[in-house]
Amino acid sequence: MAAAFLLPGDDDVLLSCLCRPGCAGQEMEGGMTVAELETMERESLDAARGAMDAAALDQVRVRYVGRNGLIPACVKQMKDVPAAERPESGKRLHAWRAGLEALLEARKAELAAPAAQGPAFDCTLPGRWHATGAAHPVSQVIEAVARIFARLGFSVADGPDIENAFNNFTALNTAPHHPSMDEADTFWLDGDRLLRTQTSPVQIRVMTRHRPPVRIITPGRCYRRDTTDATHSANFHQVEGLYVDTRPVSLADLKSTLAHFAREMMGPGVGVRFRPHFFPFTEPSVEVDFSCHVCGGKGCRVCKMSGWIEIAGAGMVDPRVYRFVGYDPESVYGYAFGMGVERIAMIQYGIKDIRSLYENDVRFLSQFG
Ligand code: DAH
Repeated sequence: MAAAFLLPGDDDVLLSCLCRPGCAGQEMEGGMTVAELETMERESLDAARGAMDAAALDQVRVRYVGRNGLIPACVKQMKDVPAAERPESGKRLHAWRAGLEALLEARKAELAAPAAQGPAFDCTLPGRWHATGAAHPVSQVIEAVARIFARLGFSVADGPDIENAFNNFTALNTAPHHPSMDEADTFWLDGDRLLRTQTSPVQIRVMTRHRPPVRIITPGRCYRRDTTDATHSANFHQVEGLYVDTRPVSLADLKSTLAHFAREMMGPGVGVRFRPHFFPFTEPSVEVDFSCHVCGGKGCRVCKMSGWIEIAGAGMVDPRVYRFVGYDPESVYGYAFGMGVERIAMIQYGIKDIRSLYENDVRFLSQFG
């Protein structure tokens, strides 16, 4: 038999060194013994069992039962086997071919089965876990506030974080010497531009563009040069409210609106208190407290023993503000308010440190999903 190399999938190539163990490609002399046949049979069965894919299995088939394979070569050699041994060798050879062909078929089916192509689907495995996102607690509060005021006919207005001094201070009747304009309190960007310190400038933006009636809330980010601690953050959120009409609107309307808001937001048992205060853009001005959600008004650490928690500033829009936006102060009436969103979120969810709202710790945030 001439020496040649076997190419995968090539059924017709000549085989080298296959006629029997130890043969270097020469013709066998004197035929093969039963023991040699058995050795070759064992090797062929091992090779078939060891083939791990269809291509490897096909190589085994070509090598042993293909047209130029070892078994046909052995059949040809039978004539050289001594006559006395021929029946025994013939039987062995026949059994080898039948056994190998059966094994090749069985392995072929095994390798084609889905199990051989990858792990079977195991319906007892736990399902794959997908993290579901949720709105940030600050966004949740803003949405809740907006929903309550939407039912009262307020729409949502928006304004930029970068404001000019006119909208943020001047038109809100804030005198140039006012401490809030100081560089120590406000992030000034250049001579006129700043990061807004409150959402109140959106009042100015809306009133300069729209005639009364105006009924808006404006949620948004604010910035102050505050040193960050458990209750202060240089970046925080407010929701501003503004109602201006040509029909009389009084402090009683402001009070009933904010009392309604308090009950909707905190529950029917919440108490509301107005304290006289000063804001440049409202006259009269008040600060608005809700009864402490922890002690119900008896006094505890959360409310610093007062029974009340400050939620908002509010008041009747100052006539000077109307003049700045081109409204006639004699023919319009209105109130405004501004509340801290983080303050409400901290009360609602029992959050002790405002910084937890900005650390982006999923372990914290996922509690509000
Ligand atoms: N802008 C005020 C602040 O940041 C809050 C405020 C008070 C808003 C009274 C108002 C208002 O609209 O009328 O403290």
